[in-house]
Amino acid sequence: MSSSGRTAGEATAAWLRAGRFAGLSDAARQAAEDRLGGIRDRVLAGAQIAAGAHVVDLGAGTGLLTAGALSLVGPAGMVTAVDLSAEALSQIDRPADGGMVRRLVADATRLSLADRCVDAIVARSVLIYIDDLPAALGEVARVLRPAGRFSAFEPVNARRRHDAELDGLSAMELIAIDQATTGATPAARTMTAFDERRTAALARHVGLTVEAVVMDTVRDTFTDAAAVEAHLHCRGHPGGPTAIETITKNLGGDVAHRYREAWMRAIGRQGTITYSTPVMYVTASSAAQ
Ligand SMILES: C[S@@+](CC[C@H](N)C(=O)[O-])C[C@H]1O[C@@H](n2cnc3c(N)ncnc32)[C@H](O)[C@@H]1O
Repeated sequence: MSSSGRTAGEATAAWLRAGRFAGLSDAARQAAEDRLGGIRDRVLAGAQIAAGAHVVDLGAGTGLLTAGALSLVGPAGMVTAVDLSAEALSQIDRPADGGMVRRLVADATRLSLADRCVDAIVARSVLIYIDDLPAALGEVARVLRPAGRFSAFEPVNARRRHDAELDGLSAMELIAIDQATTGATPAARTMTAFDERRTAALARHVGLTVEAVVMDTVRDTFTDAAAVEAHLHCRGHPGGPTAIETITKNLGGDVAHRYREAWMRAIGRQGTITYSTPVMYVTASSAAQ
């Protein structure tokens, strides 16, 4: 079934399971999974999760952070996995030695959780999708217990850049392609409006103490035509269009064809093409009393 024939929740679950890795070689997929594991561990470390704690995984998806948090809280603890997608949440596994998992279908901007009931909140690649970021961060501040911790990882897609030298397209065409792909969907527009300064300012505004905003760079390197092809046909976010679909729809099949050809010539000439994405790790805490 095409992604347009699915509910948004099913598309999210399918993208998290396989869509984001579509077309990758086994080695590239393993590298992507290893990288996710590293991000998971760093976000969980930032939350300083103690045995017996109650943790919320905001925008949990299929439970990358939930699984790690369940091990950290142990049998006496609990993780509430919150997501818009019931289908994604239904795929979360509970480790045998882990705490209790509660799956909560909810919008991060309106959590059906009591005030001050949670020790830590973690998130990975979720805030970038949320239009009303002040409301979501307000909910984080509301449900955290005194001295509770918030730890998140988010990519700053507005400053994502590649080093492919694309020939055969005019400067105007390249600008139009850039505009079409960054504004392809409301989700893509929200994502490219996201940045670390506004996020930290909003966190302070809702009463959190921002302890650290640490920037890093994630690099995706393509070394052959198959990797470039996979990139041009991958869906950047759940249910979203591929770059080729967006360009075909907005600028026509001829431009899309020449864009693909330009990427193929670039990989042939350069041997490697690298995308660099600035990413933020933010840690914050609620007031001690
Ligand atoms: C890129 S996925 C990340 C999933 C998971 N955190 C992980 O690390 O694999 C983004 C998730 O955020 C969820 N999401 C987006 N907007 C949301 C909102 N307003 N409230 C709750 N979840 C949301 C999506 O349904 C999706 O599962």
